[in-house]
Formats: sequence, structure tokens, C-alpha cells
Amino acid sequence: MSDLIKEINRRRTFAIISHPDAGKTTLTEKFLLYGGAINLAGSVKGKATARHAVSDWMEIEKERGISVTSSVLQFEYDGYCINILDTPGHQDFSEDTYRTLMAADSAVMVIDASKGVEAQTRKLFKVCGMRGIPIFTFINKLDRDANETLDLLDEIEKELGIDTCPINWPIGSGKGFKGIYDRQKECVITYSDTEKGTREGETSIIPITDQDKILEAIGQEAKDKLDEEMELMDAASAEYDLSLVHQGKLTPVFFGSALTNFGVEIFLKYFLEMTTTPLPRNAEQGLIDPIENAFSAFVFKIQANMNKAHRDRIAFMRICSGRFDASEEVKHVQGGRNLRLLQPQQLMASERKILEEAYAGDIIGVFDPGIFSIGDTVCAPKDHVVYEGIPTFAPEHFARVRQVDTMKRKQFVKGITQIAQEGAIQIFHEMSTGMEEIIVGVVGVLQFEVLKYRLENEYNVEIKLDALPYEHIRWIENKDEVDVSKISGTSDMKRVQDMKGNPLLLFINAWSVGMTLDRNPGLKLCEFGVN
Ligand code: G4P
Repeated sequence: MSDLIKEINRRRTFAIISHPDAGKTTLTEKFLLYGGAINLAGSVKGKATARHAVSDWMEIEKERGISVTSSVLQFEYDGYCINILDTPGHQDFSEDTYRTLMAADSAVMVIDASKGVEAQTRKLFKVCGMRGIPIFTFINKLDRDANETLDLLDEIEKELGIDTCPINWPIGSGKGFKGIYDRQKECVITYSDTEKGTREGETSIIPITDQDKILEAIGQEAKDKLDEEMELMDAASAEYDLSLVHQGKLTPVFFGSALTNFGVEIFLKYFLEMTTTPLPRNAEQGLIDPIENAFSAFVFKIQANMNKAHRDRIAFMRICSGRFDASEEVKHVQGGRNLRLLQPQQLMASERKILEEAYAGDIIGVFDPGIFSIGDTVCAPKDHVVYEGIPTFAPEHFARVRQVDTMKRKQFVKGITQIAQEGAIQIFHEMSTGMEEIIVGVVGVLQFEVLKYRLENEYNVEIKLDALPYEHIRWIENKDEVDVSKISGTSDMKRVQDMKGNPLLLFINAWSVGMTLDRNPGLKLCEFGVN
């Protein structure tokens, strides 16, 4: 096997999705720990002191102690080269969080066992579902009292519309947590609360044939419950079928406790076996194969002004095929010219390193002098690959924006347009007024602050934002067939246009969306805009 094939086949590139506080950071830390990438858990991101080490790029992050950027972490484990795409949560949830999912080949969904499926998980899942990528579920915090396992699985199936296949099964929870039963290997793995941050502790593995030992380890009550649940599962649960997993129709489910480091390595091992190698990707020319095709990549995120003094930007690219060699020129397809990618870098745990080569599956950040846009393709100079664009995701918060000093109109329009082009915000205007009145839409409210901060610091323009009550935006899928001015909407509906002149509708509540659809047969509305 050539080095190229070997390198690509050992890559696994995935995103971790969850609602804030479900344990995404803790789980990531434990993964890195197994990979030997960090010496101490707690040094990833997110937690007070360490946070800035990974993403100290924007001033606003430093001021607020939050991570606006999403990072990519690469580490080695058991011969695999793993790329984890972090999807920021909390108030720093933004359109970038969704875009990051476009660069992943699979997703790990972390669920808090006492909370079940929560709002942010639902949103992120929807985007993964749209792409049909494999989704693996890790149900966390079994060391705390958990919901009934059957209820949790039922909730995932009903709320997210994906079948579940538990690969292991928890035995009790909270104070009564005894371990897990591995349904594939048919053994009980007993729980041990290891010291935080160390590798998985001493546990015993008892085969199902050794019933006496299991009884001794978990007690009669837990054993009776396990026997009963397993009987039920064997009869009722979906069978494990890897092809359905790969189509995103069936999610393998695992249980554990990231904090006490139980079930994490077991999960990681199964996950790495079950998930996919870098996937082929759709381009105008058809599917581009990661191994057969020469180098190609697409830009999924642009991070602006990491260094205020230079107004530079970093474009994050997902390599989709072949090998990237930093010494060779590549073709920037949309820009129509060949160039060298400058300062290509990768995040390894908490540091950035300049790299000389990378392979399909990897994510690289390159210095962007302002030429790249989200969705752009770069490829080998001899080729002409054009990857499918990245959808525009529906903002959920809207505000009317105006500059305080009316004399600065020009800078204001220039600044806000540039920031919108980078993809940090979306801007709309009313059909009738044009750029006179600008409405800003964001996925996470923090982006409003980012906008205000950047306009003041980079363009010297002070702005005022007046919140608008809209929460739902819809693109008109069949815009060429519909006369937008004739759409009979609800009283809260507002017609706007985006920067490219696409008509959109804003609504205050979901009910109005349904009502408008009812009143206008043939109207097709969509939650994503395709560029
Ligand atoms: P997030 O990235 O998904 O937002 O979650 P994060 O890992 O930061 O975890 C949120 C909180 O839940 C943290 O507690 C963390 O220690 C805790 N946690 C994570 N996994 C488990 C688990 O398996 N069991 C239990 N019992 N707790 C877990 P915190 O008090 O908010 O932060 P910290 O002060 O402990 O760091």
C-alpha cells in the first residue's frame, strides 16, 4: 500500500455535537489524554486558564473569556490520525458552528443522561441529518442519577428521527452505577471511579457465561434488571447494521462517564472501528474520491482579524482528496489563479504548528490576504474541481442596525458588508428601502457584539442595534415561480432581501410559517439557503 493510501485510510475526522454542559469538553479532554496529546486533562479549551492557549485570536475572546472561534484538534491514537472539530456552544454558538459540521465525516453526539435530547443538540443534529453523515451517541454522566435507559433511547428515536442501536448498556446509575454490559462482546465491565484525569482505571471484564461472578459484582437487583432489559433489547431494538450507520439512519449508542473516565476508551475504540475513513465529496464534476484524486480542499470557515495590527484572516480548509504539499502551488478555482497557501497550520492540542504536508481528512488553516470566500475550492493546478457550496443557515436573532454618526455612512456600509461576506453575520434589507435600512441576522446573539466591536475597532464606526422580534427566516425555494409581493402572509411576516437579492421571509413564530404555507399553496420555504 502506498503511503498516500495508508495515511488517508488512517484518518478519522469528526465533530462533537452537544448541548452546553453535556460534557463535550470533558470527553474531548479524555480523548486527547488517550492519544497522549496532553499530559493533564483540563488543558484543552473552555476552562478558565487554558482557554486562551488555543484560541487567543480575537480581542473580544480575551475580554470576555469565551471562545468565539471553533478549533480543530489533531492527535494520534492506536495508529489512527484523529481530527476533532470542535463546535462551540453556549452563547458563542454561531453560523460557524454549523459550517464546521460541513467539514466532518461523522459526528459524536454527547447527551447528558439526566437531561436527554436538548435544544442545541437538536439543531446540530438537524444539520448532520441533512448531510446523512454517521452519528454516534455517547450518553454521559452515568455516575449521576440518570433517566431510564429505554426512555433515553425512545427520546432519541422520536425527537431526532434516527434508530438507535445500543452497543453497550448501563447497569444502574448515580450511586448505584455498577458498570456497562457490552452487547457485542457479551461481557460486563465493572465501574471504577478512577482519579480524574488518569487513564481508564482498574475495571474487571466478566464474560456473560460467568453468571456467578456477575452476580457478585453487580448484585441481584441490578442483575435482574439487566437480564430483563437485555431480553427486551434483543427482541425489540434495531439490529446493528454498519451500512445503516454509515447512511446516518442508525446511531450506535454508548454509555459512560467522561468525568470519571469510565467508558470513554471503550467508546473511542468502537467508534474508530465503526466510523468512516475520509468520505468522497460532491463537486460539480461528480464525486471526488479522497484517494484517486489529486489534492483538493474547500474553505468552510474564515476567521478574521486574529491579529488586529495586520487585519489578516485565516481560512480553514478541509482537505477532501490527495496530499497537500506546502511547497507546491495550488489552484484557487473561484479566484482563477495559482498560488502558494501561506503559513499552513494545524492545531495540535493547545498549540499551532506550521505544517509541510497534510492529507485528505485533515483540516488546515492558511493565511488569507482577503481572497477566499466560504465554500471556495482549491485544487491541484492541473485540475478544475468545484465543490458544492456551503448552505447559509437560518439566523435566529435579528436587529435593525444603524450608524450613530450619519457622516460615516460609507464606512458603515463597507464594514458591515465585508463582515457579512466573511460569514460572521447575515445582512438583509427591506425590499422597498434597499440599503437604507439594514437588518442583521445572527445564529447566536454574541455575533451582535462581535459586529459592534469590529465595526468600532476596525472601521471606526459606532452603531446602534435595535432588537427585532423575528425568530424564523425562510428562503423561498421556488422563488422563480412565485411573485413574492403577492404572498399572502400573516400580519407578523416581513419580506426582505439578502445581499445577493434573494427574497426571504421573516416571521415572529413558527405558527406563522405554517399558516403562510397553508395560505399559499405551491409556495416552498426552506430553512437553508444554498449559495
Ligand atoms: P460542555 O463542553 O459540553 O459544555 O461540558 P463540559 O465538559 O464543560 O462539562 C460540563 C460540566 O459537567 C462540568 O462541570 C463537568 O465537570 C461536568 N461533567 C462532564 N462529564 C461528566 C460526567 O461524566 N459526570 C459528571 N458527574 N459530571 C460531568 P462544571 O462543574 O460545570 O465544571 P468544572 O468546574 O467541573 O470544570
